[in-house]
Formats: sequence, C-alpha cells, structure tokens
Amino acid sequence: MPLPLAWLDGRLLPLAEARISPLDRGFLFGDGAYEVVPVYGGRAYRFDAHLQRLDRSLAEMRMAPPLGRAEWLAIFGKLVHGNGGGDLLLYAQVTRGVEAERFHVPQPATRPTVFACVQKLPVVPAAAIEQGVAAVSAEDIRWSRCDIKSTSLLGNVLMRWLAADAGAAETLLLRGGHMTEASASSAHVVLGGRLVTPPQTNAILPGTTRGVILELAAREGIVSERRSVTEAEMRSADELLIASAGGGIRAVTTLDGLPVGSGAPGPVYRALYAAFKATQREFSTELPA
Ligand SMILES: Cc1ncc(COP(=O)(O)O)c(C=O)c1O
Repeated sequence: MPLPLAWLDGRLLPLAEARISPLDRGFLFGDGAYEVVPVYGGRAYRFDAHLQRLDRSLAEMRMAPPLGRAEWLAIFGKLVHGNGGGDLLLYAQVTRGVEAERFHVPQPATRPTVFACVQKLPVVPAAAIEQGVAAVSAEDIRWSRCDIKSTSLLGNVLMRWLAADAGAAETLLLRGGHMTEASASSAHVVLGGRLVTPPQTNAILPGTTRGVILELAAREGIVSERRSVTEAEMRSADELLIASAGGGIRAVTTLDGLPVGSGAPGPVYRALYAAFKATQREFSTELPA
C-alpha cells in the first residue's frame, strides 16, 4: 500500500489529495513511462541506472526528460524521508500529460504529468530464498517494444495473472521458442555452470537487476553469456533465476509443476544472492534530507 506522502506535478502532498484529470493521456492511452526504484535503509538502489532507463523510455516515446537527475534526487529524498525512510519501493510515473481533445497524435506543448509515491518494500519470505519459487510458462503475447518501461502494462497483467491462477510467483515468457523474460522480472538460466541471459533486444526490458546480476557474476568469477535461450534449455537448465527491483534475485525451482535442476536453489543463485545482499549499500545512493 502506498505511504501517505506523494509527489504530483511539482509538490509534495498527501496521496489522498492527489488528483489527475481523466483526460490525462496516461489514463486514456497508457501514454507514459515509469520506474520502480528499491530503497534500502533510505538509500536509492541503482539510482543512475533507473534514471537513465526512464530517460531512455521517454526518448523512445519522443518525450524529453521532464526533470534532471538533481531534481529527481531531491524529490526522492523528500518522499523517502517524508515517509519515514527504511526499506521502500519508489514508483516514479511520467505521462505525456493532459490534453483538452482526444487525438492519438500528441500536441507539441502538452506538459507531462509527474507522479511519484513510495510503499514498503515487500519482504521476500525466507522460504522463497531457501526453497525457491514456482513459475509457469506462457507464450509472450506482449507488443514488440518491451524495451520501453511503458505504463501500458495490460500484456504483463494478463501474463502475471496466469501465475496467480496456478499459485506460482511468476510467468516465464516464450516468443518464437525462446525465453524472453518474465511478466515483471528478467529471466536467466544456468547451464553447465555458466550464467546465460537473453540478449538485450526490443523483446525485453533492460532490467536494472539484470545489470546487477551480470556485474556480481563477474566479481564472483561466474562466467556469463548473453545469448538466446531456447525453450528446451529453459526447461532443462541446472538453475533458473528471476530478478527485479521489487523482488530481488529469486531461484525458480519448479516450472509448470516440474522441478528445475535439483529442485532446490543452486550454487550460482546462492553466490549471486549473497553478493547482492552484501553490496546493497555500495550500489545505492544517499538521498538528500
Ligand atoms: C517486464 C519486466 N522485465 C524485467 C523487469 C526487471 O527490471 P528491474 O530489474 O529493473 O526491476 C521488470 C520489472 O518490473 C519487468 O516488469
């Protein structure tokens, strides 16, 4: 649940008082981009990577960044400290804004809507770390610009719902016989001790936690490869990992009801998870009061 203080169009205000017009293009067309930034001990994790990705998503939508890094940093600081700090998940949403008339093609002078709020960081249960999580698989029905972190999330919603129907944590997605990612996480396999992650194309989001995993793998001496992963490789992998800002790094230990590898979190997961926990402070940025 979001915490009480939010940011909307230039000011901090009680979330209960935040109002956005129904003519906002974010509402009418899903014409917006967003970021989800973990906050550990009041510090923003991978701040630069998230802001870079937001600016990139906006540029791909032909929008200029509405705010600079220093302005975002100040807003994040106000939101995080104003809501009591600690471990949080910060949502920053930018839409193309409100227009008086409904046209697909945006008007040039429309002012973007900028909204941000925080919620408590969901705690990953100890069982999910020790035993891993269940996932299901499905054909990736989403559009072909999944590299944009768009607020148009209908495809992801429908995909995640399949996991919920099966009592699983995630839905792993397949396009043309290859693993893309999961409904709200990046996806990786371990084959013969090597970490294999699909290449960065328009079919997947440039995951910030994926970047973390690759960096930590290099530090831990785990060989990594960026290449396509076939469905057969996904199903016969020694380990299957999912990663996201909100869920951290998790081992998938059953896929469509069948065990993955040994059916327990493997050595690559355990090494990456330990390194992930150990570097949280190093990889995060202090926020101004
Ligand atoms: C579709 C999709 N892919 C990948 C990710 C992982 O990205 P990140 O690690 O930056 O959270 C997410 C995160 O929400 C996502 O929604």
